[in-house]
Amino acid sequence: MFNLNGKVCVVTGGNKGIGRGIVENFAKAGAKVVYALGRDEAALKEVESLFPNVKGIKLDVTDVAGIKAFVASIKEEHANIDVLVNNAGITRDTLIQRMTDDDWNQVLDINLKGLFNMSREIAPVMMKAGVGSIINISSVVGIDGNIGQTNYAAAKGGVIAMTKSWAKEFARKGAQVRVNCIAPGFTQTDMIKTVPDKILEAIAAKIMLQKLGTIEDIANGCLYLACDASQYVTAQTLRIDGGMIFGI
Ligand SMILES: NC(=O)c1ccc[n+]([C@@H]2O[C@H](COP(=O)([O-])OP(=O)(O)OC[C@H]3O[C@@H](n4cnc5c(N)ncnc54)[C@H](O)[C@@H]3O)[C@@H](O)[C@H]2O)c1
Repeated sequence: MFNLNGKVCVVTGGNKGIGRGIVENFAKAGAKVVYALGRDEAALKEVESLFPNVKGIKLDVTDVAGIKAFVASIKEEHANIDVLVNNAGITRDTLIQRMTDDDWNQVLDINLKGLFNMSREIAPVMMKAGVGSIINISSVVGIDGNIGQTNYAAAKGGVIAMTKSWAKEFARKGAQVRVNCIAPGFTQTDMIKTVPDKILEAIAAKIMLQKLGTIEDIANGCLYLACDASQYVTAQTLRIDGGMIFGI
């Protein structure tokens, strides 16, 4: 039931962490091709070498011209782009009084505008084909807020609002183009490596299931939202956080 047979998928930030987990899950679920986009060419080559149906392409989500060229090139090859996962993201955490313009701009540029850049090119392809699934990776921080993450919370909250707008906009004229969000809780990747163990332990103690999430936990939710098993699901935000009680 949870298969992607014959589907063309695009995953941003597909070279490591959650993005790489999503790429691997999609490849195993029978996708025709999974385009893994990212900034690290060597890591993209490595994930590409593991699966015949994965293609690694160096592409930054802030590079508007590069995105246009990428979409134009794959449009020539395929009838549709069936699945887009907007996963690429960064953090530049600090308290607001220390947050620089650069901290703000970089996080908003990649974590919010990057999704706009990708979807602006790919959503029209899906709408023309009359079908597609866009999955935006937000965060529980975009719902609950967090100390030291003004920039990240603003971007991730914006992602949820954009998701709801796109779900309405892209379903016009009967198009079955669905747009959903995943809001991961604390998930074991490089992104949380800078968080001290003591704090991670305190966080885990506040999670109903008493543990941090894994890459597979997020990638499995993503597979559900990508495939036809979720064909009647749109405009939703799926928290995958072990039942997290957020706050100090
Ligand atoms: N790890 C967590 O606890 C957690 C929690 C909630 C949400 N998230 C979100 O999940 C997503 C993946 O994060 P992760 O934990 O795997 O982190 P990660 O640092 O391991 O991976 C981030 C990915 O984004 C890519 N990336 C960054 N900037 C890019 C750009 N400009 N263009 C293209 N690719 C770019 C990186 O190359 C990398 O592949 C992010 O959007 C993150 O905000 C993570």
